[in-house]
Amino acid sequence: MIFLISLCIALLFVILCSNLLIKKPTTFYVGAAIIGIASVVMTWADFDMPAIVNDWVLPIIARGGLTGALFVIVMYASAFPSRSLGAKIFMPIRGQISIIASILGIGHGIAYSKQYINMVVNGSGNLDVATIVFIIDSVVMSLLMIPLFITSFKAVRKRMNGKTWKSLQQSAYIFYFLLFIHVMLLMVPRALKGEMGYDLTVFVYGFVFISYFLCRVIKAVNKSNLEIIPKKQIVAMATALFLATLAVAVIMNTSTVNAKDENIKTKAGSSRSSGSTVDLEDGTYNGEAMGNNGNIGVDVTVKDGAITDIVITKFVDDKEFFDKDVDGKILIDEVIENQSTDVDGISGATYSSKGFLGAVDDALEKAK
Ligand code: HEM
Repeated sequence: MIFLISLCIALLFVILCSNLLIKKPTTFYVGAAIIGIASVVMTWADFDMPAIVNDWVLPIIARGGLTGALFVIVMYASAFPSRSLGAKIFMPIRGQISIIASILGIGHGIAYSKQYINMVVNGSGNLDVATIVFIIDSVVMSLLMIPLFITSFKAVRKRMNGKTWKSLQQSAYIFYFLLFIHVMLLMVPRALKGEMGYDLTVFVYGFVFISYFLCRVIKAVNKSNLEIIPKKQIVAMATALFLATLAVAVIMNTSTVNAKDENIKTKAGSSRSSGSTVDLEDGTYNGEAMGNNGNIGVDVTVKDGAITDIVITKFVDDKEFFDKDVDGKILIDEVIENQSTDVDGISGATYSSKGFLGAVDDALEKAK
């Protein structure tokens, strides 16, 4: 959802500002830098923001939605057939869009790196394979982005040998591939857990990246062999791809629909009487989820089908934001009282609260 909205904003921005992007690009670079710095400050300081900022503005600018959407436009600009309308609109401003996307990407990368640096420093022994792959992918992606970013500036490009510039720009394909992996590593587990809206996100990203790959292949084949793939076949292939991706999304949605119902709003106590929700097996279960500086661990005790006790077993977040003995106790009491993790977090400690509640959810999954 966030990606779709970001894509609409990015497209509108690019189309409406195309002339200005050519005439006054620096103004936009400065604007992007201000947005980038703002997203780092907002993410690191964990300010108490109005709901609209937390739910819409931050996801679009700080969580990578807008940078991803702008990179998608840059990708497609070169995938459109040479004399098509898409190429006419986007090719002349491709460099400028790429620079703006990179500046926002740097802001987003810095905003989120802190969390992962802390994880590596504080809990490297506990990092799972997916997280390690994600960190390596993000680092390589960032390293590739820097030379692509610098050489997108006209002044730099002019000073470079044409061939060197072209071969350096080829690394953009590796960057796009790593970007796809970056997003999938984050979104697929969430979709499989049944978190709201993530199946759509996986579908949209999957469709956008696979279609791009297909467009590039078709363009390359047509270029080398004088349009050997007729237009009708291209349309048929694109339709087949769309339907195949849609089918995968529907299958994923069906397989996760139960999880969706049972997630977050698990009401252990009332579950027995309602019959429609989940029974929890008695016992003590451990769970983990990522907080601000690393994984938060909990032991959740279930007795007679109800949550009776929660103990925080692992905690590396900063005390000034979330004191585990004070704020942790408040959340533990709320979860036990409501028999649900659908409670408000501690204000000013969004990530620690999310980590704690996520860890309880993880433990409750094992009790089902
Ligand atoms: C190199 C430039 C980067 C680009 C272009 C980029 C792009 C993206 C995109 C498109 C998303 C998905 C946004 C959405 O649809 O919700 C995302 C999410 C994310 N990225 Fe990056 N990223 C970059 C670097 C990094 C780095 C260096 C890190 C830190 C290790 C990082 C950590 C994250 C995290 C944690 C999320 C998930 C945010 C959330 O949903 O809460 N990214 N990124």
